[in-house]
Amino acid sequence: MEFPVRLASSLLLAAFLSGCDGSVEPSEAELADIRAATQEFGSELKGQLVAAIKASGPEGAIGVCKIAAPAVAEAVSQRRGFSIARTSLKVRNRDNAPDEWEREVLEEFVARNEAGENPANMESWAVSEDKATGIQVLRYMKAIPTQDVCTLCHGTAISEPVREALAAEYPDDRATGFEVGDIRGAFTVRMALPQ
Ligand code: HEC
Repeated sequence: MEFPVRLASSLLLAAFLSGCDGSVEPSEAELADIRAATQEFGSELKGQLVAAIKASGPEGAIGVCKIAAPAVAEAVSQRRGFSIARTSLKVRNRDNAPDEWEREVLEEFVARNEAGENPANMESWAVSEDKATGIQVLRYMKAIPTQDVCTLCHGTAISEPVREALAAEYPDDRATGFEVGDIRGAFTVRMALPQ
């Protein structure tokens, strides 16, 4: 009986290519590349943020953040060859709102944080098929913890000048009320996998 043997070996091959649960798994090299990109994005933006606060106070840094955040995202995406951005359950800029998968991951991160897990190394990924193109896309998220400096503009006791500047730039702002250690949001990556 040749048929069952062939079937078994093709199933074995499928399992080898896809990981045991049938899902495609990213390679360690792809994950390393993505993790490096999140580091770059985080440290470049924080560098610009801290410099702007030093030069013109947190209220003056809001405009810098508005321009720098998408510019750094674009620069790192160009350099790395895949898309990286930031998202959150409570966004300041609606362009950063999560899609369904991102929302689920963010909710999972928040639940894990509330259960006592340190957000510093929280990450999650999934491979899904882009419906429009049929391309396999690796989606990856890494939690962004709230640090002390972040509370100047995202915290519970925001100064009056910062509050006014935020209201002027972002009338629908939802990104306040965070405490140090809370999950402020996450980096979110989309990488087309070799087909
Ligand atoms: C000077 C004020 C200021 C400080 C300090 C600040 N942010 Fe923000 N943050 C902003 C502004 C303004 C935006 C909206 C940027 C945009 O328009 O894309 C933003 C957006 C974000 C977003 C994207 C999601 C959203 O709400 O739109 C994340 C995530 C974020 N900030 C995290 C942080 C973290 C983490 C820190 C501390 C390391 C921090 N921020 C410090 C002003 C600030």
